[in-house]
Amino acid sequence: MSSPYLQGQALADAIAAGSELLKSRFGAAPAQAVVLGSGWAAASERLSDVQRISYADLPGWPLPKVEGHVNELVIGTTAGGTRVAMLRGRAHTYESGDCTGMAAPIRTLKAWGVKTLVLTNASGSLRKQNPPGSLVLIADHLNIPQRSPLVGLPGSDRFCDMSVAYDKALRKTAQALAAEQGIPLNEGVYCWALGPQFETPAEIRMFAAFGADAVGMSTVPDTILARHAGLRVACLALITNMAAGMSDEALTHDLTLKEAKASGERAADFLSAVLDRFEAVQ
Ligand code: HPA
Repeated sequence: MSSPYLQGQALADAIAAGSELLKSRFGAAPAQAVVLGSGWAAASERLSDVQRISYADLPGWPLPKVEGHVNELVIGTTAGGTRVAMLRGRAHTYESGDCTGMAAPIRTLKAWGVKTLVLTNASGSLRKQNPPGSLVLIADHLNIPQRSPLVGLPGSDRFCDMSVAYDKALRKTAQALAAEQGIPLNEGVYCWALGPQFETPAEIRMFAAFGADAVGMSTVPDTILARHAGLRVACLALITNMAAGMSDEALTHDLTLKEAKASGERAADFLSAVLDRFEAVQ
């Protein structure tokens, strides 16, 4: 199947053109960019001095059609004075079977001058101590589909190190902030399931035995792309439901969106404060 996304030289040209466009329209890059997953959009609504650009105007950027995503890059300043770029909308592998949808955005941000990528997502929880509404600080991941957005790249930098994919200093900073604010923030292992169907209870028991704490359908290809690009990565998961078989509730997209909405304001508060702290360790 041919890819719905730009590859090779066409992708390289798009990244060069896109980063020039961002530079000319918005000036120097902020140190941090954030990918806003389901439930996290409130964070972008709180920024001040906002400037925006649609993904449609950025060469090679995907136009995913997932409910709650508007496909817009928002640049603005947090209440604490940190200038950041926020991506409202991400490509998921379940849309096309192709996991390279975030290559253009992530490499364009790197070429613009971004240093750190903060990934957020909505996840199912495999641990009772992380109930719906809680946040989990991702410390590592399981790439269950064993798919990589780096397949087919030439050169030796494709063999990129994933032994500390989620930056230790950023994790320490996030934990210190959570402790100060009295917010429970357990670290956990994120397990990527391809989707789009939810998991079976047997799959969830297997993932739990493998060491997974949270499960979702995004993030891992983005982390791989960002580490390959030389960006520091941090990831916060908003727990929207107990994973399949762990509660009596049937899993639906509406249920996850409802919980994401209910907890989104608190998640956005924490994200905004954590970005201010991360700025100090750039
Ligand atoms: N499984 C997969 N993806 C998800 C879930 C889940 O339980 N909750 C939110 N995204």
